[in-house]
Amino acid sequence: MERSRGMCLLLLLLAGVAATWGCGEETCLAAPDNFLNVHLIPHTHNDVGWLKTVDQYYYGANNSIQHAGVQYILDSVIPQLLADPNKRFIYVESAFFWRWWREQMEPVQKDVARLIQEGRLEFINGGWSMNDEAATHYNAIIDQMTLGLQFLQNTFGECSRPRVAWHIDPFGHSREQASLFAQMGFDGFFFGRLDYQDKTNREKTRRMEMIWRASDDLEAPSADLFTGVLPNGYNPPDGFCWDQLCTDMPIMDDPNMEDYNVDVVLAKFLAAVHAQAAKYQSNHIVMTMGSDFQYENAIPWFKNMDKLMRLVNARQANGSNVNVLYSTPSCYLNALNRANLSWPMKMDDFFPYADGAHMFWTGYFTSRPGFKGYERLSNNFLQVCNQLEALTGAAAIHGPYGTSSSLELRRAMGVAQHHDAVTGTAKQHVNDDYTLRLFKGWKACQVVVSNALSSLMGTKENFVFCNLLNISVCLSTEMSKSFSVVIYNPLGTCSHTVCSSSCEWRTLCG
Ligand SMILES: *[C@@H]1O[C@H](CO)[C@@H](O)[C@H](O)[C@H]1NC(C)=O
Ligand SMILES: *[C@@H]1O[C@H](CO)[C@@H](O)[C@H](O)[C@H]1NC(C)=O
Ligand SMILES: *[C@@H]1O[C@H](CO)[C@@H](O)[C@H](O)[C@H]1NC(C)=O
Ligand SMILES: *[C@@H]1O[C@H](CO)[C@@H](O)[C@H](O)[C@H]1NC(C)=O
Ligand SMILES: [Zn+2]
Repeated sequence: MERSRGMCLLLLLLAGVAATWGCGEETCLAAPDNFLNVHLIPHTHNDVGWLKTVDQYYYGANNSIQHAGVQYILDSVIPQLLADPNKRFIYVESAFFWRWWREQMEPVQKDVARLIQEGRLEFINGGWSMNDEAATHYNAIIDQMTLGLQFLQNTFGECSRPRVAWHIDPFGHSREQASLFAQMGFDGFFFGRLDYQDKTNREKTRRMEMIWRASDDLEAPSADLFTGVLPNGYNPPDGFCWDQLCTDMPIMDDPNMEDYNVDVVLAKFLAAVHAQAAKYQSNHIVMTMGSDFQYENAIPWFKNMDKLMRLVNARQANGSNVNVLYSTPSCYLNALNRANLSWPMKMDDFFPYADGAHMFWTGYFTSRPGFKGYERLSNNFLQVCNQLEALTGAAAIHGPYGTSSSLELRRAMGVAQHHDAVTGTAKQHVNDDYTLRLFKGWKACQVVVSNALSSLMGTKENFVFCNLLNISVCLSTEMSKSFSVVIYNPLGTCSHTVCSSSCEWRTLCG
């Protein structure tokens, strides 16, 4: 059944990540242990559809709904990274990166490959989308992570392999997700949203970072995963949002000009640093410098962070022990690992999520049940499509019904796992787009399945799919005098089929 397929894919994934990681820790900037190190993580959070569709977000269309254009983010960040070897940026959603990558000319592709090799551009998480953890099925989570990670692996090789799982926006966190991430070979996991009282309590007791023992069934430590709660969701500390979408003061550092504000900004920053350090255990703290769809113009962010770093670090000459550096989640994780501390253990999940009194994010567990149902059915059909494609190979791709593959449905399912997709939290026109994608994926997979069954049966039958069985409509069974039904059982194990009267089922798998 689905479980065995899940296990199977998991093994593949594990085999894929067992190889050595040759371009890691040495690419991190120095974070000397005798300082309080502030790891600035430049990042952008790109929803694979929410107020706009995934493609509207990619192109920056319909900006009257929300100003956001992912292509420009990557266009803007890459030259900044190329110009300065100290700068770092992480990228998370493979569905967007894949769209962008295909459009780049060779010189840009070469530059990007080099930035990845040198740890200056780092993929984090790397799934097709940043999947939800409540409304998803683990089978589809594995598929969508596989889709994104395989794209990275095939395109950029081993150096691009994300080492850190990054679910900064999903609305609560399941223990099973942590178990899956641990089994996929991630070294650590960071997220932003947890119950507000839990967070306050963890801050007071310095339990923001922990080891999540994510399975009762798997023998420890195979499902143990270092897990960190980020300090400000995934936003910068108050007053330090330097994107063009924000309104915080830039650093005005020429004393001969009006509004010189270095002293004010540094005092505020150092206060934020010390307040945060009091909630965490080590002499390394992390600040997420970015937010939703930021860095479309990367200059304001990088220019102000450069100044901040220069000004804060200059005070070290006068005895300050605060050191600010560009970093990534992996480099921060390395620093924590080096610190050799022991962490509290977490055994259960982070559900339900409330961000204030009486403000529970639980409606989405059941909202848009029609779409949730379609997504589950699509998962089942994708398994059929994948299996038949694997079983018959080229004959499934090119056959009497045309040329097709499972890719379209895999991508549509990858998008549908996003934390505003299967959750039901997107706008109606976006949900319509998710549905349309799944529908197109079904059509592509119906060609695959027809080709494959024809090949297996050795005849070209006149296959018809009854897509409207949900409303008991199937024209061909209603109009034909006789017809045959082909039943394909995608389950990995065969259970006994209960027959009511005279039917005689033969199972193909013993
Ligand atoms: C997006 O923009 C196009 C072109 O202006 C328009 O036709 C369409 O209705 C817009 N979509 C939404 C959801 O506003
Ligand atoms: C260091 O201290 C000296 C003496 O107080 C002062 O003149 C100088 O501006 C300080 N440097 C920094 C970077 O704060
Ligand atoms: C880490 O800490 C433990 C004790 O907490 C100690 O036994 C061990 O030697 C330390 N390892 C390193 C590499 O410092
Ligand atoms: C039945 O499924 C089709 C898509 O396959 C959908 O368009 C239709 O709304 C569904 N009907 C009901 C009543 O759910
Ligand atoms: Zn989001």
